[in-house]
Amino acid sequence: MNAVSKRVSDPAAFGRVAVLLGGTSSEREVSLNSGANVLAALLARGVNAFAVDGIPALIEVLARQGVDRVFNVLHGSVGGGEDGVVQGLLDAHGIPYTGSGVLGSALAMDKVRSKQVWLSLGLPTPRYLRLAKGADVHAAACELGLPVIVKPSCEGSSVGVTRVFSDEGLEAAVALASRYPGELLMEQLIEGQTQGAGEYTVAILEGVALPSIRIVPATEYYDYHAKYVAEDTQYLCPGLSGAAEAEMGALALAAFEALGCSGWGRVDVMRDAEGRNFLLEVNTAPGMTSHSLVPKAAAQLGIDFNSVCWRILETSMAVGRTM
Ligand SMILES: Nc1ncnc2c1ncn2[C@@H]1O[C@H](COP(=O)(O)OP(=O)(O)O)[C@@H](O)[C@H]1O
Ligand SMILES: [Mg+2]
Repeated sequence: MNAVSKRVSDPAAFGRVAVLLGGTSSEREVSLNSGANVLAALLARGVNAFAVDGIPALIEVLARQGVDRVFNVLHGSVGGGEDGVVQGLLDAHGIPYTGSGVLGSALAMDKVRSKQVWLSLGLPTPRYLRLAKGADVHAAACELGLPVIVKPSCEGSSVGVTRVFSDEGLEAAVALASRYPGELLMEQLIEGQTQGAGEYTVAILEGVALPSIRIVPATEYYDYHAKYVAEDTQYLCPGLSGAAEAEMGALALAAFEALGCSGWGRVDVMRDAEGRNFLLEVNTAPGMTSHSLVPKAAAQLGIDFNSVCWRILETSMAVGRTM
């Protein structure tokens, strides 16, 4: 799993690289944007790269032209880009790709299953309940204690997510999350913006945690608008210092590895006012748009966007890669 990436200096060594983007998930637009950036970066470094939109198109390309490796920036589950489906297809063809394999992708896409794994290993994550169809949401909120957050288990980009502060908001939150396929969960809301409390994300590249980013949205929380549209969200990197920063990085790496993830990814974490960290989720094909966080964390280490894309592509050349 923790295979070592092979350093590459000649772009020809990568062969023909399909940048897999777009697809049919709710995050299609973001993925098209990420993919265009990745493609431009690889072309700028002399890689023989080309865009492929979605899995049916990839299957055609595999049959007709051949591909030596895939840089996967499909986001989301429907359409199979980030959930293990395309990873299985590529494994069956013996074609290497960036990012986690079948197991890591599938587990990370499912927030409920991710939390089950973390809890079994004693890794901290907000208390939660799965919401089955027809479940008594008021009883669930009572058990967890308001405020809570309701979200679909298998979406991304804050799609279908609602924070709920009073009983009256529960039904609408569940109705919104129910529009998306898969299970729903209700989670204890981790609040606060003072004393380092708030939202963090940690990029992982080649088995190393990059400096954390603290996200301070101008609006109430890091919703879709704050993620992709707003220009006033603040990103502080590194988000913490000293032992707290080291602890955050170690937790993110442990969470990533616990799910069997590899290559690159991003771990979302909430921190409360007492300095306790809570794992939210792992993203196995994170955004690579101009607002995205993996490039921001890499920039803190002096690694520019084109070099990040190159390094991610190198992870597909890993020696001893098994998944
Ligand atoms: N337990 C929680 N407490 C506080 N805020 C949360 C919690 N869970 C999610 N959020 C907020 O909702 C956003 C989206 O949640 P997340 O679990 O990361 O799902 P995704 O990014 O896949 O939509 C987070 O970036 C954060 O702002
Ligand atoms: Mg997230």
